[in-house]
Amino acid sequence: MEKIINTKILDTRKIRKAKFATSKKSLQMLTCYDFQTAQMLNETEIDLLLIGDSAGNVVLGKETTVEVTLEEMIMLGAAVKRGAPNKFTVVDMPFGSYSTFDDAITNATKLFKQTKCESIKVEGAFDYQLEIIKRLTQSGIPVMGHIGLTPQSVHELGGYFTHGKNKEDQEKLMNEALNLQKAGCFAIVLECVQEDISTQITKALNIPTIGIGAGQGTDGQVLVINDLLKMGPGTPPKFCTPISDLFQLKKELITTYLNNQRENDNAQLSHH
Ligand code: KIV
Repeated sequence: MEKIINTKILDTRKIRKAKFATSKKSLQMLTCYDFQTAQMLNETEIDLLLIGDSAGNVVLGKETTVEVTLEEMIMLGAAVKRGAPNKFTVVDMPFGSYSTFDDAITNATKLFKQTKCESIKVEGAFDYQLEIIKRLTQSGIPVMGHIGLTPQSVHELGGYFTHGKNKEDQEKLMNEALNLQKAGCFAIVLECVQEDISTQITKALNIPTIGIGAGQGTDGQVLVINDLLKMGPGTPPKFCTPISDLFQLKKELITTYLNNQRENDNAQLSHH
């Protein structure tokens, strides 16, 4: 019998409460994009899994997350949910799928229904996005917010950089976080936000913040699993210290396998 360590799936009520738990443990979240990795994570104590549109970069080899489609997110989200039935999952709404109110409701409902994930995530906190989040949460679709560096807006933002470096930007981030909370988000990702302001936001909110490159003052941390395990040939972002070099390890294992096979071939040939 397979041992399932954590069979009590979280829900948004427990996630909200985690912020104020007396034995305060930070929320642990990793991205996940495939069935077998989800099966493995399902057997760990991890709290949340994110089927991020970072899949566009690390799984599909696209240049930016702007290219990711709704169909791709549905396929990946459903695979992860099948592998991790005991985990609370969050699936990203891809770029262009929530640019209008009607598109957002139709596409979020499709993503939520077809993946069976417990929640969705949207980037940004403009007024129209707040309206969308309000309607989605009212219709029963939990929403995780995402501010700071929002990779879907990389062309508009002008690149990937740390946010909250000046007073104006800090005020903007604080307002966005408060507005997302008011709109109904159950948690907010703070990506590449300066530590002092991400800590202030965390203190000001009643919902958990989950940081990535946002320092240690948040209620939880999320990382891209491919960066953490170093599954690619490149250097992971500086806020992520890899715990392995799977790219190199897998390359060595396959090379050994290929060499052994070749030696067997040669041995067989010399017998004839
Ligand atoms: O797509 C993703 O992996 C994300 C995380 C970086 C938070 O949104």
